[in-house]
Amino acid sequence: MTKEAGNNEEKIKLITTDDGSHSLYVPNLNETYHSFHGAVQESRHVFIEMGLAHQKSRGLKNIKIFEVGLGTGLNALLTAEFAEKHQIPVHFTSIEAFPVDFELIKQLNYTSYLDLPKAKSWFEKIHTSQWNEDIVISPFFTLNKIQTKLEDYVAQGSTFDIIYFDAFAPNKQAELWDITILSDISNSMKHGGIFVTYCAKGQLKRDLQSLHLNVETLPGPPGKKEMVRASK
Ligand SMILES: C[S@@+](CC[C@H](N)C(=O)[O-])C[C@H]1O[C@@H](n2cnc3c(N)ncnc32)[C@H](O)[C@@H]1O
Repeated sequence: MTKEAGNNEEKIKLITTDDGSHSLYVPNLNETYHSFHGAVQESRHVFIEMGLAHQKSRGLKNIKIFEVGLGTGLNALLTAEFAEKHQIPVHFTSIEAFPVDFELIKQLNYTSYLDLPKAKSWFEKIHTSQWNEDIVISPFFTLNKIQTKLEDYVAQGSTFDIIYFDAFAPNKQAELWDITILSDISNSMKHGGIFVTYCAKGQLKRDLQSLHLNVETLPGPPGKKEMVRASK
């Protein structure tokens, strides 16, 4: 993605996806932040159910997550909801090169999808909190936002239980799906850690396999046939 495409915020538009939840559209890339079949539906399925709930079912108690692309903060918010509901401490590191303008964030309707009165204040805190430090958003959810490009970020080895790989699609932003990036990501995963993404491209699966990850092709969210989960 060019710098222009990433931070030219006046051009990013609010859209409504098929499940009624909002997303953002980037005209320069002709790309949306989420599936147009349903943003909340996609996030819940790919990242929460196939990622977080899967690791919880394996008995993990303290879960460390790394997200590629904080974007609207939807994945962060739904993760905070899960952590609260199941009383599981989650530490969430999210990298974002081009933060979304807060005026646009305020228009997003995500908190109405959560049955939690605190969701609104959490969502605001997710976006207004300091970068590059641990911020307690709720008793079970701590956020560390990193404002830099993924290409420039050096993650520590064997740190994360889950990777939410939520970059724009490979045909829009190929550099973020490069094997060198995937290799660094794989190194940052703990043994038993998982990588989840909405993308199910053959090249991605071959690359993840070449990094000795165990690749599963799982049913995708409504409107999308498949997704990928890779385990270390
Ligand atoms: C598909 S959207 C992420 C959606 C997000 N997870 C959400 O819930 O709204 C991709 C995100 O990656 C960010 N991004 C683009 N290039 C990046 C880069 N080189 N490094 C880190 N983040 C980048 C974009 O600004 C955008 O927020």
